[in-house]
Amino acid sequence: MTASNSVSTDKKGAIAITGATGFIGSTIARHLIAAGWRVRCLVRSLPRARLKLSCFDQLDMVEGSLEDSSSLRKLVEGCKIVVHCAGTVRGAHVHHFNRVNVEGVASLVRITREVADSPSFFLLSSLAAREPHLSAYAASKKKGEQQLAFLAGDMPWVVLRPPAVYGPGDREILPLFRLMEKGVAPLVGDRRSRFSLLYVDDLSAAVCSFLKQPAWSQSIYELHDGHGGGYSWDEVIAVFSRLRAKKLLKVQVPLSLLSVSAQVNQMLSPLLGKHPMLTPGKIRELKHLDWVCDNQVITEQTGWQPRVDLAEGLRRTMGWQAVKR
Ligand SMILES: NC(=O)c1ccc[n+]([C@@H]2O[C@H](COP(=O)([O-])OP(=O)(O)OC[C@H]3O[C@@H](n4cnc5c(N)ncnc54)[C@H](OP(=O)(O)O)[C@@H]3O)[C@@H](O)[C@H]2O)c1
Repeated sequence: MTASNSVSTDKKGAIAITGATGFIGSTIARHLIAAGWRVRCLVRSLPRARLKLSCFDQLDMVEGSLEDSSSLRKLVEGCKIVVHCAGTVRGAHVHHFNRVNVEGVASLVRITREVADSPSFFLLSSLAAREPHLSAYAASKKKGEQQLAFLAGDMPWVVLRPPAVYGPGDREILPLFRLMEKGVAPLVGDRRSRFSLLYVDDLSAAVCSFLKQPAWSQSIYELHDGHGGGYSWDEVIAVFSRLRAKKLLKVQVPLSLLSVSAQVNQMLSPLLGKHPMLTPGKIRELKHLDWVCDNQVITEQTGWQPRVDLAEGLRRTMGWQAVKR
């Protein structure tokens, strides 16, 4: 790595971030502010951002979207680092995902190279990108990474591929935890399947750990909560059950039933104008047996270590006062 590839962090300046109104981006924005950065966010609606973001007054806002190049120029101007968290996780068709997760990355990378001053680019991808054949979402995350690698030239970049991320404000796993709080544990997918998890504050700390590095290689990193070998749903339910000191009723949700709902969602999506989470691609992701990842490389290169195990993460996510171990 040459000196020109290094991230200048000797004096903290401005960081541009997308997706700051979302679950993960809002947490990263808070961590960046706490670490002393000036944070400039791209938001699609200022009034909604004001309602959503508790740290609104500490952020510079640019109203616009990934589809609007003039707002992207305003976002990155004068910033040395761009953290790209905006993405879409819901959609019924390839073009829903590609518009944001592929074309959005390409536009932002192009404009960053054109406008920003010796920039470095941070892309939040997904572990799904490891299996692009499974779904339109997974393929779009992989293509987004490829766009960055193709268009970056010698600009330093980092891609993170988190597994399932949870925490307060999450819209994907939290509804399942809420159901479990009521005593019912749905079993979706294949019971042999194993997956890694990551608490959202640890993901944000990982982003901050890169900002302390003198240089970024153009590399992709996986990361998880420190539980090597991942979890099965039965293990997650066991931890939940122990913390609440109650037995949960396990209900196996047949994949055939989910598949029918997924097909219906896909068909109705254009009529209703809605972007569903449950699609045939999501079913293939649920059937996949290995969503386990590894911390070795990221920890060796940045010193980052996860701090929040599943028990502590559940306590924080659910707002429980104390963990009964
Ligand atoms: N959640 C997970 O478990 C997980 C795991 C691995 C990777 N990821 C990745 O992490 C990223 C964030 O996920 P999340 O769970 O935080 O999602 P989220 O809560 O749905 O947030 C998505 C963010 O992207 C913004 N956005 C979407 N389309 C945009 C566009 N066209 N222009 C500008 N902004 C746009 C949204 O803005 P609005 O508020 O205006 O809608 C929102 O701020 C995604 O790239 C996802 O692929 C998530």
